Amino acid sequence: MFSALHNRRILLIISGGIAAYKSLDLIRRMREEGARVRCVLTAGGAQFITPLSVSALSEEQVYSDLWSLTDEQQMGHIRLSREADIVVVAPASANLIAKMANGIADDLASTVLLATNKPVFVAPAMNVMMWENAATSANIALLQKRGVKIIGPDNGSMACGETGAGRMSEPNEILSTLRSHFELPGPLKGLMALVTSGPTYEPLDPVRFLGNRSSGKQGHAIAQALHERGAETVLVTGPTVLPDIAGIKTIKVETAREMLAACEQALPVDIAICAAAVADWRPQEASLEKLKKGSTKAVLELTENPDILANLAKDSNQRPRLVIGFAAETSHVVERARQKLDRKACDWIIANEVASDKGFGENDNQVTLLRRGENNRVVESAWPLQSKDEIARRLVLEIIDYFTAA
Ligand code: C5P
Repeated sequence: MFSALHNRRILLIISGGIAAYKSLDLIRRMREEGARVRCVLTAGGAQFITPLSVSALSEEQVYSDLWSLTDEQQMGHIRLSREADIVVVAPASANLIAKMANGIADDLASTVLLATNKPVFVAPAMNVMMWENAATSANIALLQKRGVKIIGPDNGSMACGETGAGRMSEPNEILSTLRSHFELPGPLKGLMALVTSGPTYEPLDPVRFLGNRSSGKQGHAIAQALHERGAETVLVTGPTVLPDIAGIKTIKVETAREMLAACEQALPVDIAICAAAVADWRPQEASLEKLKKGSTKAVLELTENPDILANLAKDSNQRPRLVIGFAAETSHVVERARQKLDRKACDWIIANEVASDKGFGENDNQVTLLRRGENNRVVESAWPLQSKDEIARRLVLEIIDYFTAA
């Protein structure tokens, strides 16, 4: 399942309350949705669940002591509050809520909450009388006024035997509030997009490969621009040094065959954009042992790789509504791109010239967009030299036009 929580960094603060057991499930589900979860456990929280279970589920160190020299050296409380996209307090005890409302910072959790500049979500959990107490109501109203989002609490029977409001919201409800925080409204909302990016590495032996100079910058920029306009985006990328993009499901592959398999798994999608520089050939056989000088023929036997773009564009019930390819050429750029448009049966092709200052590895690119128009006529538009980010945004505007006209 694709989730808007993918690659999001969540700082989860667990304070004291029987509902802390639900936080373990919350961590597990956040992780399943691809979020990175770091936890702060208060002294009260540690009365209900152990740091070990929190750490095992989050696969991260658990932080609990403001005065721990090692914790402070590894990850000071200011960094903890900054290196997250959102802060979630679940369960939030009446005490911690009161501290938040009054700016008290006397332990790690309250200090992080005072120091953070990120959106804060609070899922209260307490006895009904504590929840209905005028002090708690005033604290909650104050926090809401300051922009803190309150999730729940639910009504029901409580661990203390009483019934009423004060049960912590179920993990499902907390997750759906967090997801909608990250889901971007946008003209492409509801559409799914697949982008390939980067080079492929085709192994010769355990240490060597055939590859190319693609940096992945253009493909990644397109994935980001699609995501920003609301498309649910899957990025299938060969090896690059680029960081993961928050909110985008990224599948990392090495070879062309792995890239094809990952793309096929991502289907069905509405839009497919093949920006990867896929190796056309791979060594016929990859040696299991490192090849030794003098022991092999100095001739490489190659075999053709599958064409991912042509596979996605071929007529099938899974064919995306819009399939876009790239054509990097050193000469006769537009003419060759036209031929490619036909040969690969894609709808649009972006032709670019690769020279020492353009194309592979560079930040700027000069492209011509070729589109199959009415009666199969090809419409060409040459764009000026611009950054790969600008090209990505412009391409996405064209895609928005295409889907709004459809
Ligand atoms: O044939 P050529 O490699 O020039 O075609 C470039 C276009 O085809 C790019 O969009 C590239 O991502 C895609 N391609 C592919 N699989 C291949 C070769 C190219 O998807 N094996």
